[in-house]
Amino acid sequence: MRRTDLRRPVRAHGGYRAKKVGHLPNRRFIRADILEVFEHEFEPFHSVISAYTVHHLTDDEKGLLFAKVLTSLVPGGRAVFGDLMVQTSETKALKIREYTANGDAKTAQDIKEEFFWLIDAAVADLSQLGFLVKIRRFSDLSHGIVAEKVI
Ligand SMILES: C[S@@+](CC[C@H](N)C(=O)[O-])C[C@H]1O[C@@H](n2cnc3c(N)ncnc32)[C@H](O)[C@@H]1O
Repeated sequence: MRRTDLRRPVRAHGGYRAKKVGHLPNRRFIRADILEVFEHEFEPFHSVISAYTVHHLTDDEKGLLFAKVLTSLVPGGRAVFGDLMVQTSETKALKIREYTANGDAKTAQDIKEEFFWLIDAAVADLSQLGFLVKIRRFSDLSHGIVAEKVI
């Protein structure tokens, strides 16, 4: 999913670009803000997948997104997120110091400016909503989260 580009002309059906792909009739591409996309009338999803987008949302917006994803999933459905994550705000401060000390000011700045997931807080939010959460580390700053709707 990509951020809505407000410079593009708004279309009569609400500003979204929807396209049907001939050989995949059930696939649609929609350009929308990730917090607005679930306002479309979709069938419930079995899976919702997002790669490296949710770290553009504040913590409050992430909570809002998780609630929308929960509503959009069938029971037993799964949300899969790959993104920039650190365990806690203390880990975040530590990583900023580490990358700065290693001469990688650009990454240190990104960690400061972007809304990296705080894993402990996100897992608490997701669990409270009724997701069963599994996490896997991909690299120093990247993790994957699988959140299964168990209710
Ligand atoms: C690092 S890129 C990742 C792109 C792609 N998912 C990938 O894995 O290659 C982050 C993307 O998030 C999009 N983005 C940022 N905020 C967004 C929002 N609120 N809603 C939808 N997309 C957003 C940006 O436009 C950008 O395309």
